[in-house]
Amino acid sequence: MSEQEETAEFATTTHPTAKAFFDALDTRSSSSRQSLNLRRRVQSLGWRNRHSQAKYYPCTVNGIGFSVKQVQRGEVDGTYGTGATVWPAALVLIKYLERNPSLLQGKKVADLGSGTGITSVASALLGASIVICTDGEDSVVQLAESNLQHVKQELTGDVLQSFSSEKFSVQRYWWGDDSMMGHQDCEVIIVADCVLPKLYPIAPLVQAIDELLVSPTSVAILSYEHRYYPDYHPRSKFEELATQRGLLVEQISGTKLDPVYSVDDIEIWHVTRRE
Ligand SMILES: C[S@@+](CC[C@H](N)C(=O)[O-])C[C@H]1O[C@@H](n2cnc3c(N)ncnc32)[C@H](O)[C@@H]1O
Repeated sequence: MSEQEETAEFATTTHPTAKAFFDALDTRSSSSRQSLNLRRRVQSLGWRNRHSQAKYYPCTVNGIGFSVKQVQRGEVDGTYGTGATVWPAALVLIKYLERNPSLLQGKKVADLGSGTGITSVASALLGASIVICTDGEDSVVQLAESNLQHVKQELTGDVLQSFSSEKFSVQRYWWGDDSMMGHQDCEVIIVADCVLPKLYPIAPLVQAIDELLVSPTSVAILSYEHRYYPDYHPRSKFEELATQRGLLVEQISGTKLDPVYSVDDIEIWHVTRRE
């Protein structure tokens, strides 16, 4: 078979999924929403699970590199739940915050369900004045604390100042628990990949956000990875519970997300108090 014949045969017999993949790689292909989503998906192959198995998960914000330790067996053996690895939605959130610097600069930030602490560390590097890194699991809080110490060894000079004990703390906080968290007057609450109703009920998270959004100008910024549930849509459930508490949930347009670190099944939401 000649090369020309082979090319013609490939064009007519390519599996639809493979064809879609190659079309998506072709930047000249249609710019329809579907094609854009597909392109994002293909692009995400480069980062989405790239370091998920690594002992230390590397991250760069504003050109500053750091890494956090992961415990691979933490979820399987139940010692850490889901909090011992970095989830893709955390990266989408970090890169969104990096692209929109005014969201964090000079702000007091609380991170809920922080896991490894990667989003807290990134917030400090992105100019938050105070960061309170929290998780409900004791083992995960210890991991985040040890990651803080690890990051301090990686950084030098002025950047290291962001991690002094007055500026950066790690605490156990179980959503909705009566605690001092509500009195902290945090201006920004960040939450990466914690809307996971199969594992964690949504109501305590919404309650926690309601209790922590004390000022009318404070905002909760969540990254949400959509997973399929036959009975209901987690976003609708979250919105329903938030509305009952007088909160407004807005999905941020994809154009405001980092063009590389964004994909159609991970969304960014802003939650504020309705006027
Ligand atoms: C899927 S992990 C996300 C971790 C991290 N934010 C990330 O994106 O890499 C969910 C986290 O929420 C924490 N979590 C679950 N339910 C919680 C609750 N009721 N109170 C506080 N933390 C909770 C878990 O311990 C876990 O660290």
